Amino acid sequence: MQAEKHLTGTLVLSVFTAVLGFFQYGYSLGVINAPQKVIEAHYSRVLGIVPPDRHATGAAGEDGTVPIPADTSGDLAASPHVLTMYWSLSVSMFAVGGMVSSFTVGWIGDRLGRVKAMLVVNVLSITGNLLMGLAKFGPSHMLIIAGRAVTGLYCGLSSGLVPMYVSEVSPTALRGALGTLHQLAIVTGILISQVLGLDFLLGNDEMWPLLLGLSGVAALLQFFLLLLCPESPRYLYIKLGKVEEAKKSLKRLRGNCDPMKEIAEMEKEKQEAASEKKVSIRQLFTSSKYRQAVIVALMVQISQQFSGINAIFYYSTNIFERAGVDQPVYATIGVGVVNTVFTVISVFLVEKAGRRSLFLAGLMGMLISAMAMTVGLVLLSQFTWMSYVSMVAIFLFVIFFEVGPGPIPWFIVAELFSQGPRPAAIAVAGFCNWACNFIVGMCFQYIADLCGPYVFVIFAALLLVFFLFAYFKVPETKGKSFEEIAAVFRRKKFPAKAMIELEDLRGSEEA
Ligand code: GLC
Repeated sequence: MQAEKHLTGTLVLSVFTAVLGFFQYGYSLGVINAPQKVIEAHYSRVLGIVPPDRHATGAAGEDGTVPIPADTSGDLAASPHVLTMYWSLSVSMFAVGGMVSSFTVGWIGDRLGRVKAMLVVNVLSITGNLLMGLAKFGPSHMLIIAGRAVTGLYCGLSSGLVPMYVSEVSPTALRGALGTLHQLAIVTGILISQVLGLDFLLGNDEMWPLLLGLSGVAALLQFFLLLLCPESPRYLYIKLGKVEEAKKSLKRLRGNCDPMKEIAEMEKEKQEAASEKKVSIRQLFTSSKYRQAVIVALMVQISQQFSGINAIFYYSTNIFERAGVDQPVYATIGVGVVNTVFTVISVFLVEKAGRRSLFLAGLMGMLISAMAMTVGLVLLSQFTWMSYVSMVAIFLFVIFFEVGPGPIPWFIVAELFSQGPRPAAIAVAGFCNWACNFIVGMCFQYIADLCGPYVFVIFAALLLVFFLFAYFKVPETKGKSFEEIAAVFRRKKFPAKAMIELEDLRGSEEA
């Protein structure tokens, strides 16, 4: 039993290398927030909004861009719509890239194998980061938008390939804890980008291209480290039928323990997969066999994104400002720190408390925090100390997110499906996550302007719906083999209840 929890050097290296992909995701997500003002100022120069004397001529600028007409004041605010449009595109093309590529995850992962696929897609990351890093040498706005899109393509692929690989190389007993590392890598990426984005570090007029392009270094590191990582034994055994290679890979990952128990488990899964045939995305939705699991997989993604977490990560400085906080930039970094600390805590919690309970507790905590935040914002005009209430509520909101709704969706999808439908399910869930992320990123500012201090009431209502859904439909997957989890859904009952039956089933098997 202990051997199942054994962490070998190779396992650590493989998981670390894989989650470097998620680090880049977090970095790209957080990096665009802090340098907004300096980059916008640069855009307006490139676009010819300043200097004012170029307005009237309409001639192309040095870098080939045509200046746009502005009003006579020559103020930067003269063409806010154009600037806002380019800025919104710079922010959101990342999620668009992610949405598009997440659909191809299953195909690439199966075609090339997990390791080679992660290796190849790094080309996208390096290209995207180069485009942004060299943005000052061309039409910057275009290069950044293109760079964000290409980096998004990388992150979309990586957000599917990495959980696939990590769940397949991890021993069952450590799958949750190692799965939580995805989230840890994301939040570390966010935090580092927030800190480097301070204006006295890289968030200034000279250094911002370096700030934007810096995650290319992680891509290079991942590229070289992947050359040392073993291919997923599950992929080798189940997809390719290479028994000896699968054993070799397992030995590297597990050290000296006997691989036969896991091989037997894989064999079971393989037979299952053979009887299922290959499952396409369309079949995933049309076959009643997968319906329950697909709904759960999609709903956990929707819950994660529509909980409103990225409203905080994209717009925290603005929210803190509205809440009357003195130093909003540092409060934002505070959020990054709290976010990281509680993700670390949840790495340890997840194998003790189980996914389902943490997910439920997290949603409920977020719901209460969202309401407290609303009270703080609404009553701010009457009591200045309400700014502390809002600030504490925002911190608690993030803490509860990291307890469950943050990390769990990233690995639970791989746990909910057996080998046959897994790649298609991961692709669909990834797409759903990215699409919801995009929607929140695009719409939050408009809704916030419309609803004022009541904006988080919308998230509170959604959180209630997600809580009820999770209570009735999300099963506990802790400590269960993929095969056992698939069996629960095959019974087409409410999975949460079916899990109790599963315990009975396992009990009678053991007897
Ligand atoms: C999760 C979400 C991501 C969010 C992050 C915040 O990983 O998928 O969108 O920004 O958590 O910690």
